[in-house]
Amino acid sequence: MATSKKKNAPSEPSEKSGNTWSGRFDEPVSELVQRYTASVGFDRRLADYDIEGSLAHARMLSAVGISDGGDLAAIESGLSRIRDEIRNGEFIWRLELEDVHLNIEKRLTTLIGDAGKRLHTARSRNDQVATDVRLYLRASIDDIIRLIHAMQHALLDLAKQHANTVMPGFTHLQVAQPVVFGHHLMAYFEMLKRDVERLSDCRKRMNRLPLGAAALAGTSYPIDREMVAGQLGFDGVCENSLDAVSDRDFAIEFCAGAALIMTHLSRLSEELILWMNPSFGFIELADRFCTGSSIMPQKKNPDVPELVRGKAGRINGHLVALLTLMKAQPLAYNKDNQEDKEPLFDTVDTLTDTLRIYADMLTGVRVKQDAMRNAAMRGYATATDLADYLTKKGLPFREAHEAVAQVVRLADNSDRELSALTLPELKKFSELIDNDIFTVLTLEGSISSRNHIGGTAPAQVRAAIGRARKWLS
Ligand code: ARG
Repeated sequence: MATSKKKNAPSEPSEKSGNTWSGRFDEPVSELVQRYTASVGFDRRLADYDIEGSLAHARMLSAVGISDGGDLAAIESGLSRIRDEIRNGEFIWRLELEDVHLNIEKRLTTLIGDAGKRLHTARSRNDQVATDVRLYLRASIDDIIRLIHAMQHALLDLAKQHANTVMPGFTHLQVAQPVVFGHHLMAYFEMLKRDVERLSDCRKRMNRLPLGAAALAGTSYPIDREMVAGQLGFDGVCENSLDAVSDRDFAIEFCAGAALIMTHLSRLSEELILWMNPSFGFIELADRFCTGSSIMPQKKNPDVPELVRGKAGRINGHLVALLTLMKAQPLAYNKDNQEDKEPLFDTVDTLTDTLRIYADMLTGVRVKQDAMRNAAMRGYATATDLADYLTKKGLPFREAHEAVAQVVRLADNSDRELSALTLPELKKFSELIDNDIFTVLTLEGSISSRNHIGGTAPAQVRAAIGRARKWLS
């Protein structure tokens, strides 16, 4: 319990440990503790945003007269040199300097002397890191939205080619009613559209400046937070200093949005995998997205969609990690928050790669139209149309349902399609059935009758594609 024998003046970094904050300590941390507490191994990816934030802070310090113009010029040239060193891979990252913030600050001080030490006036790493992460995530969201749009374009192109391609629509994975493949694809367009809206909404709440909160309570210097917010492209400032340094809601919201995107991509992956199975045989994926087996020469495995399905689990894990990270934290900043970065970075990386690969993979989907059509023929997919036909002629729907069940039974027993039954055979089930039934029982008849907004009629699918293109432009 010796606090009096200080080896360094309080404001000087300890030469022994290299730490910026160790003035009050008697012994350096052990190597293990250093490694355990350091984040520089992963938070160095925030460097560009850290520098951007520091430049805005330095300009504000100078504008309000907390520092002078000489300091600002030196800081600007020092940080720009550091940015180049980092980009060129020449920057030496030091574990003993803990994180990205202290590494950059130390290098700045080496380059420009005392002006570098004055940069941290009216600021803390707590509001600094909160700002960096918001800047990083804001840029990531913009990238991700661009990638979703690219994937949506690929979906639209494929949907347009297949606005007339008949396939079975499924419920319970059993043939239900015919749809066109373009309609099926457009369902995914809608999911991704909601995903974009969700991320844009999350971006709005994220786009507030924490700087100025300092460690937790604000600062006694006459800072201009609005000026810093304006420089960094934030829509405003975080209203409460305690919340500003401790809030990670934006990271959780982002991960929730990301988990939902991965869930959508995982559902599509599951379908691609099923459709590629020879029992379906609906599609082929381009070879570059598949691999073979080391033992079974005939295999072509859909590895990429399988991995997307698997990685969806990993992203869900990151969301749960962040929720758990926050759930018991008292105000304000706690070191726990350092653990926000790896799940967040991995979420961004995984999602970015997945979207990029998906846009490309969709352009390489080869559709086997005959197989899709045959599958729709096999499952009595137009049985509902027959029931609707009878209902429109006056039979109560429940009775029509029962009559058609009997028709299906006959077709099944005699191994025929509904449309292969003869009129006299059909009439046995209901006198209301006439010759016009045969158009109703065709796949095309069924599809084109669902001719309202949101329905699978090819004309409606084309209209939906048109609206989607407009939304994207
Ligand atoms: N590396 C830290 C983090 O990511 C920066 C903030 C450290 N603040 C502190 N008071 N130790 O959260």
